[in-house]
Amino acid sequence: MNVTIIGTGYIGLVQGVVMSDLGFDVVCIDNDATKIETLKQGKSPIYEPGLEETLKKSLKNGKIKFTLDYNSGIKNADVIFLAVGTPPLADGSSNLNYITAASKNLAQFLSKDSLIITKSTVPMGTNKKIKKIILDELKKRNMGNLNVSVISNPEFLREGKAVYDFLNPDRIVVGIDENDNKEKIKKEIYKIYKYFLKKQIPIIFTNLETAELSKYSSNAFLSVKISFINEMAMLSEKIGANIEDVSKIMGFDHRIGNQFLNAGLGFGGSCFPKDTLAILNIGKNNDCEMSIVNSAVKFNDDLKDILIKKIKNKLGNVKGKTISILGLSFKPETDDIRESPAIKIIKKLINLGAKIKVYCPQGMEKTKRELENYSDCIKYCKNEYKCAKNSDCLILTTEWEQFKNMDLEKIKNVMKSNYFFDFRNMFSDNKNIRNYFHYYPIGRN
Ligand code: UGA
Repeated sequence: MNVTIIGTGYIGLVQGVVMSDLGFDVVCIDNDATKIETLKQGKSPIYEPGLEETLKKSLKNGKIKFTLDYNSGIKNADVIFLAVGTPPLADGSSNLNYITAASKNLAQFLSKDSLIITKSTVPMGTNKKIKKIILDELKKRNMGNLNVSVISNPEFLREGKAVYDFLNPDRIVVGIDENDNKEKIKKEIYKIYKYFLKKQIPIIFTNLETAELSKYSSNAFLSVKISFINEMAMLSEKIGANIEDVSKIMGFDHRIGNQFLNAGLGFGGSCFPKDTLAILNIGKNNDCEMSIVNSAVKFNDDLKDILIKKIKNKLGNVKGKTISILGLSFKPETDDIRESPAIKIIKKLINLGAKIKVYCPQGMEKTKRELENYSDCIKYCKNEYKCAKNSDCLILTTEWEQFKNMDLEKIKNVMKSNYFFDFRNMFSDNKNIRNYFHYYPIGRN
């Protein structure tokens, strides 16, 4: 089966590479020439565990190709996946320019009945608009008689675990337009996702709007869960409770579940911040007050100020102090720093006059570019020990496994003073930690 994927970001690239490994013949189209060249050489432009190895294997086996050219990418396609970005605009709504352009472009080269599968996270009603764009373009080519179906198949991949998540989904959602031939599309989907049928992964067929909304509600719900536990963590600090025990106790209740109850410095990344803002915007446009999601977003922002206040309370005035930050990516196992809580904390500390030293196993290059304007105030270090050297205070902002193994005594000995704010509770159960540091975890004394 010939599979074409438009967009080689996190979603498109993982989809393409893993499908090629499952035996499909894959062509990936992107309009970024540098990216296409990099991919052709077997290098992944993003850090995602397991991705580059599989990419190299599929290139060697001739199962995956990368091109800038829609014509060669579309003409032999049995199915086309749309996986371009939908970044946020200033008002929180999704920028649909890329998906509109990709739809127009692919329509120039369609020559047979086609199934288009949207992976991008798009507001309700977008898949119907995509179909209209494609049909309008086809009509201009006098090919309006082609039967084109556009279906919604949202992704639920986590960055850093995207390859694993692709192969082990909790569910597959397929939204179909009520005017399309549902049975025919179902058969196609069973062919495309045969691997998952064998694994008895549930496939839920529904209408387009439900599929589109299910993605936003899943991300919004997880964001609410995180803000909820962080709010409880702040209360725990005041009243002497232990948030980690609270999470554990709540998590044993099957109705609540034990995931996404880790208190920390809030959610970041390219998905939760973007999708919560988008759903607020969609709610506004549909006269629905989304007060729960709104509170989760607001608390997520406020949390950074609450934590800065905590630092000031313990450390005193931060002006002129050297503060070391461990972890820049928005979570471990990724080099993605989009909406990273660590970056937000750094900016606030710099504005208060602190000197910053940073180290992250993967996020350094992207941070250098993102914080170019702050380069006078930030020193980029080679490892956690160089980062801690001569500093007044250490803040752990991303829970990279590597940090778990650091030599605490060595860290303490290279520091000027010994304040340690563990905003991911990596060392909260370490019995020796207080022998070395004034230690402040999240949500417990
Ligand atoms: C998220 C969803 O988990 C995926 O299901 C979804 O497909 C993806 O967005 C997307 O829309 O594409 P991702 O952004 O990669 O995936 O990251 P998560 O692992 O969900 O973490 C998001 C943020 O929440 C991180 O900053 C993380 O540190 C934070 N978090 C997570 C917590 O603070 N506490 C937790 O208990 C869990």
